[in-house]
Amino acid sequence: MIQTVRGTRDILPEDAPAWQRVEAAAREAFRRYGFREIRTPIFEKTELFARGVGEATDIVHKEMYTFADRGRDDRPGESLTLRPEATAAVVRAYIQHRMYADKAPGELTKLFYVGPMFRRERPQAGRYRQFYQIGAEVLGASDDPAIEAEVIEMLDWFLKELRITDAELLVNSVGEARERGPYLEQLRAAIAGRLDRLCADCHHRYQTNPLRVFDCKVEGCQPAIAELPTITEALDPASRDHFAQFKAHLDARGLRYTVNPRMVRGLDYYTRTAFEIVGGALGAQNTLVGGGRYDGLSETLGGPPTKGFGFAFGLDRMVLSLPAEEAEAARAADAPDVFIVHLGAEARSRATQLARALRQAGIAVALEFEERKMKKAMAQAGKSRARYALIVGEDEVASGRYGLKDLATGSQESLDLEAIIRSTKATKKH
Ligand code: HAM
Repeated sequence: MIQTVRGTRDILPEDAPAWQRVEAAAREAFRRYGFREIRTPIFEKTELFARGVGEATDIVHKEMYTFADRGRDDRPGESLTLRPEATAAVVRAYIQHRMYADKAPGELTKLFYVGPMFRRERPQAGRYRQFYQIGAEVLGASDDPAIEAEVIEMLDWFLKELRITDAELLVNSVGEARERGPYLEQLRAAIAGRLDRLCADCHHRYQTNPLRVFDCKVEGCQPAIAELPTITEALDPASRDHFAQFKAHLDARGLRYTVNPRMVRGLDYYTRTAFEIVGGALGAQNTLVGGGRYDGLSETLGGPPTKGFGFAFGLDRMVLSLPAEEAEAARAADAPDVFIVHLGAEARSRATQLARALRQAGIAVALEFEERKMKKAMAQAGKSRARYALIVGEDEVASGRYGLKDLATGSQESLDLEAIIRSTKATKKH
């Protein structure tokens, strides 16, 4: 039997409502905060991620699904990559479509996206090779830390909306590339003295970008990493001030956070503010949301000087963190409003007409064509989790009044079509 590829999975109809619930809450958050949707391709030129995310990152160095496209004639095809993240692609689109043109001073471009990403990581609970992200990016001329706090305020609303309460906000500042020089020297020297206590990947990071040593998750490396000097101590006064303002904006909004000077995030484009939201309900893969500022990314990709700030969360992980009652409520809302039980040939024909009329009135109807005995049919209605059973037998066909049974309370009324539409619509869950 052919099965899914390792690290990929099917989201089955029983689970899809929880996914839709998370997605709907995110879309509502974006609507309220003025973000508009962008859909970029699932594959891009490899160079976009190599330059944007950084050659020394784990993502580019070892996790990308890269392939050579078919060439034409004797020319080789170009190197393409399934997107491992979307920020580089969104900034590429921002530059390509000149979204910065015709803007009032200080006007921001606020974009969001939803879709699959691909990373060849070792699969485990909460970590997949095809996973889904919902993310948002704020692009423009302003690097006001108030924007950062507002984006985090939006995430706070979103998490509360989903009743995810055990999440913690971690913040840090990683400074700007130009102020990292002396610090990186100092860091490299500190790592050099501890190489015997660090893994092979850390040795590679030490060579290519020592800051990436902080991304290491290997247990045995942690004591040595804990001794390394942090970038936060080496910030210049402007970055220090930016970070202080950011925290003051969080305080002003009553958003609680913890400063973690060792959190540098696994992508090279970050400047100054970096943040994560970690969830209590998840195991080892507990980072729900990751984001930060990336002021140089547009220029790295050949665009005009642009400031950027954004985040992405793992939809897979957000669904795993959803409280059981929320997931259950989403599943219940997915059930039909009315299940039609029909008894006899004439009733079956009337049932198809009623189903059509109810559906046209906006009601979700389950109609099975199979002829069943009353008891079996009612059991089937219960299994469908419909709110109502609509009973259509010979007498009902003759009188034009049908039995509407509320499956939640057990009460039953005899009603004509119009009254049925009225009562089922009144209790319909949206
Ligand atoms: P990231 O931290 O690489 O950041 O990913 C963001 C989130 O995607 C993670 O916190 C996690 O929830 C989810 N995620 C990542 N890898 C996996 C995986 N293998 N399986 C399941 N979930 C995963 C970025 O991608 C940046 N583009 C975020 C950003 C946007 N920064 C600024 N703007």
